[in-house]
Amino acid sequence: MGDYTNMSSYYDVIMTSGYYDYAEIVDDLDRLGPFDNILEIGCGTGLILEEFGRRHSTASITGIDLTEAMLKLAQKRLEPFPSIKLARQNVVELSLTETYDAAFSYGGVWYFVIDGEKEPFMVSHIPDEAGNLIGLTKLAGQIASGGMLLLGIQGPHFDYEKPISNGMTYAQKITPHDYGFTKHYYLLDEGRKVMSQTIDYRIYSWAQTLQMLGDLGFTFVPQSGGAGKFLAFRKTQ
Ligand SMILES: C[S@@+](CC[C@H](N)C(=O)[O-])C[C@H]1O[C@@H](n2cnc3c(N)ncnc32)[C@H](O)[C@@H]1O
Repeated sequence: MGDYTNMSSYYDVIMTSGYYDYAEIVDDLDRLGPFDNILEIGCGTGLILEEFGRRHSTASITGIDLTEAMLKLAQKRLEPFPSIKLARQNVVELSLTETYDAAFSYGGVWYFVIDGEKEPFMVSHIPDEAGNLIGLTKLAGQIASGGMLLLGIQGPHFDYEKPISNGMTYAQKITPHDYGFTKHYYLLDEGRKVMSQTIDYRIYSWAQTLQMLGDLGFTFVPQSGGAGKFLAFRKTQ
């Protein structure tokens, strides 16, 4: 399962050293919206919700995440935004009372990888098939008819090392396996390993993704323009 406890205390410094561009992510959410009632699946330390909350003080915003240590950081970060609700939940056991006009995940539970002209494929932090189906079914149940499911886009994954803003070195190593890949994350301080985390990911082809989301009542909505941070699906049934 996609537990981020090991990385949690270094997560912000890694991500804000060029891994994600949070302003651009929220620019794209704004372009796809407006959304008055929005849910983030796998909100982590709340970096997207903070930017979204700053821009939309009257919106109803909810974030859920599996990893307690990540959520603790999100709670602290989001104290100035009392309208943002957080809950520790595994999406496979999702239990929420509201419905949302949009649910999104950026690098969270599900995301897409797009490599040039090749078809996108979906990556899941949930390694088993049954868990993915249950999680997506539960999530579909929380999205209002006509609402949107927005899943973030990332570039191809590869092995690399790079310095980050605190002087340490971030490294990642990808090992493919029969249903996806394992990603090893490391942080090195003058060559000494200060953090390591391993996550097992399942991959779905574009055809499998369209089938699975189609069965749950979602239709792919091609987008043009913007920073291209999300693939969008509308709940049409
Ligand atoms: C790469 S982080 C992305 C965090 C945030 N969206 C951001 O952009 O900074 C992935 C997050 O997904 C969460 N996650 C993974 N599997 C999950 C699951 N089954 N249910 C809920 N959250 C999950 C992890 O705990 C982690 O905080």
